[in-house]
Amino acid sequence: MSALPLATTTVTLDGDTDWPGFRREARALLARGTPPDAVEWHTQASAAGDLFASAGADVDAVSDEPGETPATTPTLPVPATASKPSTSSSLSVPPAFIQLCETVVLHSDPGRFGLLYRLLWRLQHEPGLRHDPLDADRVQAQHMAQAVRRDMHKMKAFVRFRTLAGEDAASPLHVAWFEPEHHIVEAVAPFFVRRFTQMRWAILTPERSVEWNGESLRFGPGAIKQDAPPADAGEALWLVYYRHIFNPARLKLAMMQKEMPRRYWRNLPEAELISPLASEAMARSGRMVDAGATEPARRIAPLPRPPSVEMDMTQDVSTFDLSDDPRKALEQLARATNVCRECPIGEHATQSVFGEGPVHATLMVVGEQPGDQEDLRGRPFVGPAGKLFDRAMADLGWPRDRLWVTNAVKHFKFELRGKRRIHKTPSQQEAAACLHWLESEIAQVRPVALIALGATAARALLGRPVAVMRERGQWHESPRGEKVLVTLHPSALLRGDPQQHEEAYAAWLNDLSQASGIALDKAP
Ligand code: URA
Repeated sequence: MSALPLATTTVTLDGDTDWPGFRREARALLARGTPPDAVEWHTQASAAGDLFASAGADVDAVSDEPGETPATTPTLPVPATASKPSTSSSLSVPPAFIQLCETVVLHSDPGRFGLLYRLLWRLQHEPGLRHDPLDADRVQAQHMAQAVRRDMHKMKAFVRFRTLAGEDAASPLHVAWFEPEHHIVEAVAPFFVRRFTQMRWAILTPERSVEWNGESLRFGPGAIKQDAPPADAGEALWLVYYRHIFNPARLKLAMMQKEMPRRYWRNLPEAELISPLASEAMARSGRMVDAGATEPARRIAPLPRPPSVEMDMTQDVSTFDLSDDPRKALEQLARATNVCRECPIGEHATQSVFGEGPVHATLMVVGEQPGDQEDLRGRPFVGPAGKLFDRAMADLGWPRDRLWVTNAVKHFKFELRGKRRIHKTPSQQEAAACLHWLESEIAQVRPVALIALGATAARALLGRPVAVMRERGQWHESPRGEKVLVTLHPSALLRGDPQQHEEAYAAWLNDLSQASGIALDKAP
């Protein structure tokens, strides 16, 4: 006797990224014992209407990036089912599965909801599935999540704003056009809010648009490229700058295309320069070699890195999944900062200088940016400011190798005066561009508290301008809830009046000593 065909249940979700709707429907289907083959998943087309016509949404209400902070509990409450009687009203799934779902939902494949429901169903009926990472459905979901994360990374790297001349000259609107592959606009928007909090901006994409007015985010339907403003003077300047920093001797086309795939070129102003500059590169490199050195080569004496973080600084990890192992994740981040060109500083530095210390240090010390010595040696605080820092550590009885020591900005910014490289303070935009590396570093180390050395570090950590002299020696709370002690940067002491040095040094030690309990790993 042949089995009767299953009646099909059609589920229509509210939109392409309707994760709450999917959870609700999946719960109900499971409760009714509806097998995956009997469900067809559809999404309603995005609401039509005027650009930015939807209701305002508070940024806090918008889900952040998948994987950053799970916005959900790792259970899907399910009523007792008819086919599987249960006294429990809740269906448990591994927390990682929820995070995976939140990311896969953003994929553009129409089959994603079917796949996720099948996995959910199978998790309930095949206990062995949790232990089979090579299962075809699990592998497919992982690939889809990876594609979404890559698309999000590219959006963060390749959005280019143009200024819209409008009635409000003091606070112009900056508009960008971007073409993501997946439904990632809502998920990436909080990143741009954090990075460009003070700016008014809008990002237009074919399916979704988002606007930040300085206070709240609004999402609207898709747009067309012509809605974005034409090239502006700022862009012309960027092209001149790009042409000048383009170093033919460092051109690695394959790597460049891996980091900046061709599909993104059409919306990148600098892309029009790449082909002519690349085709000239061989001849220009030849001329650079023929011209010989203009100054004696610098001797670079690399210091051995402490064994806590070993890293190969040559590997390109422009698109990567962070390892679950914090030590490996920190190594990946260190390598990624090395190839980071999200602001112009990295192009001129020898290498990035990432943090170092024990992976789960209780105290993280954050400086401004590497100096000349740090840039050459690839380690933080090893130059003159580092010597003063070491003296303070010794006087406080804090073993430096128990701290995580890092900087707000990962590359050395300098100005050439003759043969000397003179430190230049990173701009607010440059520090903002680097912030996500510091945030990722903090998320891996998970210190009990942080010390901000100087205004750049304090601003990066506290998300607001900080008057260091007024706020020094006190604990503050960062927007992410971290405890942050603010004090002077050691370079400020080095630059100060030599007559006052010892007094200033004693006051600095006094500030730092507020964190002694944590540095020495006592209860906070
Ligand atoms: N100044 C900093 O802020 N960091 C260093 O690593 C060195 C000098």
